[in-house]
Amino acid sequence: MNHFLDIHKTPKPDLRHIVDHARAMKQARDGQPKGTPDADQPLADRMVALIFEKPSTRTRVSFDLGVRQMGGQTMVLSGTDMQLGHGETIADTARVMSRYVDLIMIRTFEEATLLEMAEHADVPVINGLTNRSHPCQIMADVMTFEEHRGPIQGAKVVWSGDGNNTFASFAHAAQQFDFDLTFTGPEPLDPEPALDGLYRTVRDPAEAVQGADLVVTDTWVSMHDPVSARERRHNQLRGYQVNAELMAQAKDDALFMHCLPAHRDEEATSEVMDGPHSVVFDEAENRLHAQKAIMRWSLGT
Ligand code: CP
Ligand code: NVA
Repeated sequence: MNHFLDIHKTPKPDLRHIVDHARAMKQARDGQPKGTPDADQPLADRMVALIFEKPSTRTRVSFDLGVRQMGGQTMVLSGTDMQLGHGETIADTARVMSRYVDLIMIRTFEEATLLEMAEHADVPVINGLTNRSHPCQIMADVMTFEEHRGPIQGAKVVWSGDGNNTFASFAHAAQQFDFDLTFTGPEPLDPEPALDGLYRTVRDPAEAVQGADLVVTDTWVSMHDPVSARERRHNQLRGYQVNAELMAQAKDDALFMHCLPAHRDEEATSEVMDGPHSVVFDEAENRLHAQKAIMRWSLGT
């Protein structure tokens, strides 16, 4: 069963195929209106459930659009409206959903929920973000880097900020796509120990970004973080803001990425977000193309 649960759990050649396939599919429909169906309709007759236990703009819209372009149909479901949010087990939900749909995408809190869903589902399950990882995002980010700069292999990528779920998928990708990853952030917000060995740490952000091909950041307070931690996190992370001064330490042609939603002038200034290094909206668009390729890989279509 081709579940897409995490980048380090997906074979390297399959990851390469997904990125290359996504780029080819994007090119094939270049310039067409968003609602134009793909010529080959690879998801014809397929029903896809999109389950959200957290808010989403990009993941929700890009998966829904992607399925429609490929000729499939979607059900967008909120966890709180399902019995899943009212005591039905994840295993039973997985078994039931498998009788109705051909593919499940879930955005949830605990990774255990995703893994249990995958274990008990008879159809492929895709990780649309958990507290621990965000693999679909980083597949789009790898695609975006390569569109602009060619192969990501050997590139220097620097993450400035919180060692969070999105960082974790970058760390998995560094291993699988063979690029160099540096983390710069405050020690209390270091990435989880399971990621040790996949990146190096440089505490001083200006030193960390020297020679970077890509500088990345993300929100300082993720959806699973308690609101009460906001002020402390802001104080810890203020020195890791990506601003023009920091970008000036990277390579002249360095790219800037942020998975969005951004909190402008917190983790990144508007000057950088809207500046010449930024490819944040290409990243957002490429969620669509990357996930279409992931769904085709999962379904073997
Ligand atoms: N980047 C991302 O996953 O965005 P959404 O939370 O809007 O889906
Ligand atoms: N780290 C962020 C990513 C949002 C797409 C979060 O989990 O809230």
